[in-house]
Amino acid sequence: MHLLGIETSCDETAAAVVRGGDRLLSNVVSSQMETHQRYGGVVPELASREHLRAIVPVVRQAVEDAGISYRDLSAIGVTKGPGLVGSLLVGITYAKGLAVSLDIPLLGVNHIEGHIHAVVLEERQRGREIEFPALALVASGGHSHLFMVERPEPADYRYRLLGRTRDDAAGEAFDKVAKLLGLGYPGGPLIDKLAPLGDPSKVSLPTVRMKGNQLDMSYSGLKTAMLRLVRAAAMDDEILCRRRMYSEPPAPSLDAVLRVTSQQTLDLIASFQQTAVEELMRRVVKAAEQEPVRSVIVSGGVAANSGLRKRFASIPYPLYFPSLKLSTDNAAMIAAAAYPRVERGERSGLDLTAHPRLAL
Ligand code: KG4
Ligand code: ZN
Repeated sequence: MHLLGIETSCDETAAAVVRGGDRLLSNVVSSQMETHQRYGGVVPELASREHLRAIVPVVRQAVEDAGISYRDLSAIGVTKGPGLVGSLLVGITYAKGLAVSLDIPLLGVNHIEGHIHAVVLEERQRGREIEFPALALVASGGHSHLFMVERPEPADYRYRLLGRTRDDAAGEAFDKVAKLLGLGYPGGPLIDKLAPLGDPSKVSLPTVRMKGNQLDMSYSGLKTAMLRLVRAAAMDDEILCRRRMYSEPPAPSLDAVLRVTSQQTLDLIASFQQTAVEELMRRVVKAAEQEPVRSVIVSGGVAANSGLRKRFASIPYPLYFPSLKLSTDNAAMIAAAAYPRVERGERSGLDLTAHPRLAL
């Protein structure tokens, strides 16, 4: 079975072909980073317009890279939510048209389930199977969710939500702090590069105490603490300088950014990253104490963070990350999540529509 995955939930137009649920034949991601960079975040109207422009060539490229023709496709999996409604609709509408014209099944896929299946796919590709029940942390720009994943049958995945963020997602916190410091969008990769140059012990940031579900997460306190520290440190000049550098593409080099970045800022960044990672680590350790966990999966854009990967290495369970390419949004994960469902006969009708706040 050749499954075409299509993903347009946020600011990447992506298409991929997966064969037999365990072979990634192509993976095309067209990023809109340059479009949104100067605004310090995704502008929904611009995102939809860019998806419209990119969807046809991106899918064509994915089919070509896979070395197949459209006629070889067996089914299409497309992200139905959560995400930006206008962006989702571009992918869904195109997927419907293609499914009808090729007379093949169509299935709407939950984006969060996709992030988990990025890991399942890559392990299969290496000839390995993840041990279930697994604890899955999905930490990205839109979500910080902790699930128990059970697989009673080989093609039957079940999800139980253990905890989620009550305010910002982890990646959103990285992005907002980067914006506050005059760094570009998305903030996560930049903070990841700058954090090792600072000393986290120089700045103390608060850890969150949750009322109620101890597996829920929160980033608003950390964000406010960062705002206060930045204001108190009188860093306006360097922030303004960096903001100017990022206001027009192309984005500045790391060296250019470092020339206008004080050691104090680097220490602040290092402490922020360490605290943000610790916030996730604490939840994972706690959940693993409570649940019959056999392995841990960490996925979503924040799973690309090198500080997080180092810190999580001490978890006493088999630990699975996606490759960097499949950590952030892509369509391979959508095809991979669709695969077991299509195999079991699940289908979406032509009334398939976008679900911006879809839960898993
Ligand atoms: O999974 P993703 O591509 O999109 C969503 O589903 O939201 O995640 C994007 C998020 C952004 O917030 C970005 O700043 C963050 O992931 N991110 C990172 C890193 N790479 C991407 N955060 C921390 N460290 C990174 N290396
Ligand atoms: Zn995502």
